[in-house]
Amino acid sequence: PTLNNIVSVADFEKVAERYLSPASWAYYSSGADDEICIDDARRLFSKIAVRPRILRAVEPVSTATNILGYPSSMPIYISSTGIGKYAHPDAEKIISSVTGQEGLPYLMPTGSPHEDIFKARSRPDQKIFLQLYANRDKKKAADLIHKAERLGAAAVFMTVDTPVLSKRERDDRVQAAAGVDTISPTGGGVAKVSSLGLLNPLLTWDDLKWLQQTTKLPVVLKGIQTVEDAVLAHAHGASGIVLSNHGGRSLDTAQSPILTLLEIRKYAPQLLEKPIRDKFQVFLDGGFRRGTDVLKAIALGASAVGVGRPVLYSLCADYGEEGLKRLIQILRTEVTTNMALAGAKSVEELVPELVNTERAERE
Ligand code: FNR
Repeated sequence: PTLNNIVSVADFEKVAERYLSPASWAYYSSGADDEICIDDARRLFSKIAVRPRILRAVEPVSTATNILGYPSSMPIYISSTGIGKYAHPDAEKIISSVTGQEGLPYLMPTGSPHEDIFKARSRPDQKIFLQLYANRDKKKAADLIHKAERLGAAAVFMTVDTPVLSKRERDDRVQAAAGVDTISPTGGGVAKVSSLGLLNPLLTWDDLKWLQQTTKLPVVLKGIQTVEDAVLAHAHGASGIVLSNHGGRSLDTAQSPILTLLEIRKYAPQLLEKPIRDKFQVFLDGGFRRGTDVLKAIALGASAVGVGRPVLYSLCADYGEEGLKRLIQILRTEVTTNMALAGAKSVEELVPELVNTERAERE
């Protein structure tokens, strides 16, 4: 379909499923085991209701905010999604260029072409963060970080929810159809190849200290899944955390990031309030597909949300740069419109009173 037929984030997914090879579709879209996390994330957003306020003169609406102190045109950043070339040969370069044009930060994956990504920037001041799988070999990890620093990376997000590769049955089934007998994670799928040698099951909180000594950039932990670890991350001086279960690709049935956020609201609310939130930001990712999803997470105290798979899907079918621009335009329209409908003119006005979480909490 031509791009003007694409009017929602979900529309891109339908096109991608038809366009991608079975192996690529499995790699991009699947999760671990029964893929319960993936459905859960979407279902929980639907169980949180908005409490719109009226008669508040909601023009103009500004979605502008800051992410780690850097300006962002919306409380959204593009999350790291492994290998982009199955969606488009220039995936990472396009993401770099378009995020610059759109004023959003880009979290580039460990295994992506970092030099090309920086060359493809559309503005010298755009913000690109490094996602880090901290190699067992500390020298290799430090070299990667220092190279990204020299290129101009603005933060390091260390992924902490994947000490080992999970079991991805859809990858296995594609392999089986090709005559290869595997039971992941020892199988031969793309997921395995992409993270080969990068995962480190021996990581501990000491490695966060090591990382903070290795770089002067803000350090964020990506993949926090409990209030306990959120508190520990803050105590260890992290600049932020991403509440994430890796888009359902690591431990299946791990609680949804939005439930982790509710845990933090209940047991460590100070993490979401001033003065801590000026120096320690809480981000979320997993299943963000609608403006209202974004609005709810921000209202509950998150500083921004990450979007993963939809970005890959938007590049498919030769949509390339125009596809990603349209995806961001769709999200921007939804966030702006829904903020006005909820009675909020600015990101600061997205407060907890704007949502009712009773049904989600009863789960
Ligand atoms: C990922 N994700 C990921 N995360 C990370 O820290 N490093 C990585 O290399 C990857 N690779 C990757 C590949 C693919 C194909 C996907 C779909 C995801 C996880 C990603 O950053 C993010 O946490 C989730 O994708 C967010 O969920 P949604 O938006 O995809 O639902």
